[in-house]
Amino acid sequence: MSDFIEFENVSKTYEMGEVAIHALDDVSFSIEEGEFVVILGASGAGKSTILNLLGGMDTATSGKIVVDGKNIESCNDRELTLYRRSDVGFVFQFYNLVQNLTLRENVELAAQIVKDPLDIDEAIAAVGLSDRASNFPSQLSGGEQQRVAIARALVKNPKLLLCDEPTGA
Ligand SMILES: Nc1ncnc2c1ncn2[C@@H]1O[C@H](COP(=O)(O)OP(=O)(O)OP(=O)(O)O)[C@@H](O)[C@H]1O
Ligand SMILES: [Mg+2]
Repeated sequence: MSDFIEFENVSKTYEMGEVAIHALDDVSFSIEEGEFVVILGASGAGKSTILNLLGGMDTATSGKIVVDGKNIESCNDRELTLYRRSDVGFVFQFYNLVQNLTLRENVELAAQIVKDPLDIDEAIAAVGLSDRASNFPSQLSGGEQQRVAIARALVKNPKLLLCDEPTGA
């Protein structure tokens, strides 16, 4: 059986005019189905870059990324959109909640775009925010907003859950 995630000789360079920033330089690793993996590294080491590539939100400069048999780097835009929507749950480093939707609506929105979501109220209860469900993000503390972001990713019941600094706040 092959690995669930294969990250093979991946490089990512950001071109900033004259300057090239090598965020990832020939990175390889593999992850099996069901594995829980933590990526540790200094600020600027490339952790978010790895998650963005795995989540189909950015493309590598070179190398091969395979998730559950699908070669992410050879997907077209439509396939990538579908992959992001149905296969990936992403907890962003800076949450990215919809500010004019309540906590529950933020989670509901994510549940609506997938075929087989978890129960919305169970996902909210799982992060301990049932009593705040009708609050807007601006009414919540940083850590509470982060927990909404976690519930929103969980409710999609994704194949792959990517969490960028999920305990940061
Ligand atoms: N869009 C971009 N344009 C140019 N450089 C970028 C861009 N995104 C990231 N970088 C650079 O790539 C490197 C890796 O960034 P990345 O965000 O992956 O680091 P990180 O390990 O997540 O850091 P932190 O712990 O601070 O979140 C850094 O030097 C960063 O400045
Ligand atoms: Mg980061």
